[in-house]
Amino acid sequence: MSQTVNGNGAVSAPRNAPEETVAARLEKLRDARVVVTGGAGLVGSRLVALLRQADAEVTVLDRLDAYPESAHTALFGVENLGVRVVVGDICDREAVRRVIADADFVVHAAAYADVAACTRRPDIAFRANVQGTQVVLEETAASKARRLVLVSSAAVYGDGDPAIRGPQVFHEDQRLLPVSVYANSKLWAEHQTRLLLGGPDGPEYAVLRYFSVYGDPQIPKPGSHSWMVAWLSMQARLGRPMRLNGGGVQVRDLVHVEDVAAATALALIEERMAGQTVNVGTGVPTSVREVGELIAPHFPRSRFITTPMPEGDPLGGYAATDHSRELLRWKPRIDVRAGVERYVRWLTATPHAVPGWLAAEPAA
Ligand SMILES: NC(=O)c1ccc[n+]([C@@H]2O[C@H](COP(=O)([O-])OP(=O)(O)OC[C@H]3O[C@@H](n4cnc5c(N)ncnc54)[C@H](O)[C@@H]3O)[C@@H](O)[C@H]2O)c1
Repeated sequence: MSQTVNGNGAVSAPRNAPEETVAARLEKLRDARVVVTGGAGLVGSRLVALLRQADAEVTVLDRLDAYPESAHTALFGVENLGVRVVVGDICDREAVRRVIADADFVVHAAAYADVAACTRRPDIAFRANVQGTQVVLEETAASKARRLVLVSSAAVYGDGDPAIRGPQVFHEDQRLLPVSVYANSKLWAEHQTRLLLGGPDGPEYAVLRYFSVYGDPQIPKPGSHSWMVAWLSMQARLGRPMRLNGGGVQVRDLVHVEDVAAATALALIEERMAGQTVNVGTGVPTSVREVGELIAPHFPRSRFITTPMPEGDPLGGYAATDHSRELLRWKPRIDVRAGVERYVRWLTATPHAVPGWLAAEPAA
């Protein structure tokens, strides 16, 4: 497809040109060998499904222990997608070398992927997100892979600019100030990727900063309240009140897992993504209360309780989307209303998705 260059040097499709579908663009991945670390998790499994639709040859390297075993198999189901699943740790150099040795592309999505858990266990966070990442980067650098996509997080923005009152937009080139162990490990991974890859002869890299990923089959992790669509939906389903700190005014940029999977697959092949860091978000702030109000009509006993705003709780932010539109040529397809509706329907049809530990918890 021919392209035009606008005043900022950004490439866009010519006006009136039919938009190329994600599936058509991913045809470039037919028969390509793609390794996905963390490919048995929420995002990884949806990405793997998409890569398989594109006829890529996929290998997953995953410890398979982020969730109860039944969730990895029954909910995410990566074993049923016709891919090679290697159960192993990214800190195990031999295992990483074996899977990456003949890869064309690598997506590094494995991580101790929970802010609260990383705060409780910084040692595990360091091992998985720093040491493990170092192994993946070194083995990729030594391989013939064409590109690695590093999965990072909007957490690297921290609370943004303290001078701004209210929700704020996060731009890729603004000052980064991680305020959690998790975010710091992700920022380290971003810098290390830039330092070890992208040389003249070695594999290229692209970095994606995911905002708040949601969508079926996401389930909460114990001790973590950060996945608000899953969390509030499950509370409502269990007949418990949906709890809104400070009235639920905090915002998130909720991006559906299927859109995130598409963005990640496209980052492997989109030429202008080489050496770039790009937000993966919708550009739309959604408050916690709004999410609750989208969930409530589906559960007749729904109710809210308002609890005090924890001190220092940031109001949150949302993604600047110009880079993802222009460099990645991606925009999300599923808006929050449709995405929450899909999640609630899935949860209603899949009652066993509610984790046992959550069902057993006393109501707040
Ligand atoms: N879910 C979100 O809202 C969100 C937001 C920003 C960034 N991210 C990032 O996206 C990526 C995927 O997140 P997710 O939500 O799918 O989380 P997830 O926990 O569902 O998936 C992560 C997978 O990595 C695996 N893993 C963890 N440590 C490992 C290790 N040492 N060796 C091998 N495998 C290991 C886990 O078993 C799990 O299957 C992570 O890098 C995460 O930090 C997620």
